[in-house]
Amino acid sequence: MTETAPAKTTAGAARTGAPRARPVVRVDHPAPAAFGRGQPDPGVALVTIDRPEALNALDAAVMAGLAEAFGRLDRDPSCRAIVLTGAGTRAFAAGADIKAMAGATPETIGPIGGFEHWATLAATGLPVITAVRGFALGGGCELALLCDMVVAGDDATFGQPEIKLGVIPGAGGTQRLTRAVGKARAMELILTGRSIDAREAERLGLVSLVVPAEETVDRALELAGRIAALPPLAVRAAKAAVNAAQELPLADGLALERRSFFALFASQDQKEGMAAFAEKRPPRWTGR
Ligand code: CAA
Repeated sequence: MTETAPAKTTAGAARTGAPRARPVVRVDHPAPAAFGRGQPDPGVALVTIDRPEALNALDAAVMAGLAEAFGRLDRDPSCRAIVLTGAGTRAFAAGADIKAMAGATPETIGPIGGFEHWATLAATGLPVITAVRGFALGGGCELALLCDMVVAGDDATFGQPEIKLGVIPGAGGTQRLTRAVGKARAMELILTGRSIDAREAERLGLVSLVVPAEETVDRALELAGRIAALPPLAVRAAKAAVNAAQELPLADGLALERRSFFALFASQDQKEGMAAFAEKRPPRWTGR
């Protein structure tokens, strides 16, 4: 089934209330392709930012559409993983919408840019893999950093060019890029606005996998499918624990990990996984 996020408004129309001609965020759940015909649906949803004419720039309507889609999928037990990509071949997302933001003031930039939705995206419990072709700049790079893994096409370009616009990254770049690549490299990238290609991004630890450009979405769907086939409570717990490592002192992070590990012994899937191991058979996960 192909679902579509509710009708959105254009950046200009977002201000006037006029309807946008077509949705700017598409949701395909189950995701098409990548899985052989006749195989069971692995529970992967494909979410696509669909503004190729603006290189998938992130305006308020896109951010609202993403937050709505992620929230809905996160509550849907038939969804086990999300792949996020951008329409077309030129960009994952070329950043926040500069034209929409240009006239903003400190008071209006929040709603104009849809900045309230970033926290909703970050709170998603399901694993989210970004499939990045072309530009992932500014907010696009920050969106990739906020998600859990990046599969990059060999045509991908990452960067935080905000300094060249007279601002700084505003959706987590100074914090998440620094945690991902370290202070020295983050300083150089953010203070110069220099872009890097997929291979350099992989070397720096921003990207999990670089693949031939035309295979990007399929390879991300395959990776998501492998994760979706694993016990969902453990997958969510693992994601939460790894993310906590970005925020907590070591002792607190270790305590959280131990609590989570112990709690999983209350799940049917732990009993099933360990019984299946002992009985030398494949496990049958129930998600309970
Ligand atoms: N916002 C709005 N529109 C954008 C955009 C953006 N971030 N990026 C590209 N576009 C639009 C262009 O205006 C152009 O539209 P028109 O055809 O109507 O003129 C269309 O997309 C195609 O772009 P270009 O003609 O510029 O394509 P190019 O191949 O010559 O250049 C590019 C590609 C190098 C990515 C260039 O478009 C560019 O530099 N984009 C801006 C990148 C940027 O600075 N991003 C950071 C934004 S600020 C931010 O993200 C803040 C934050 O932290 C949240």
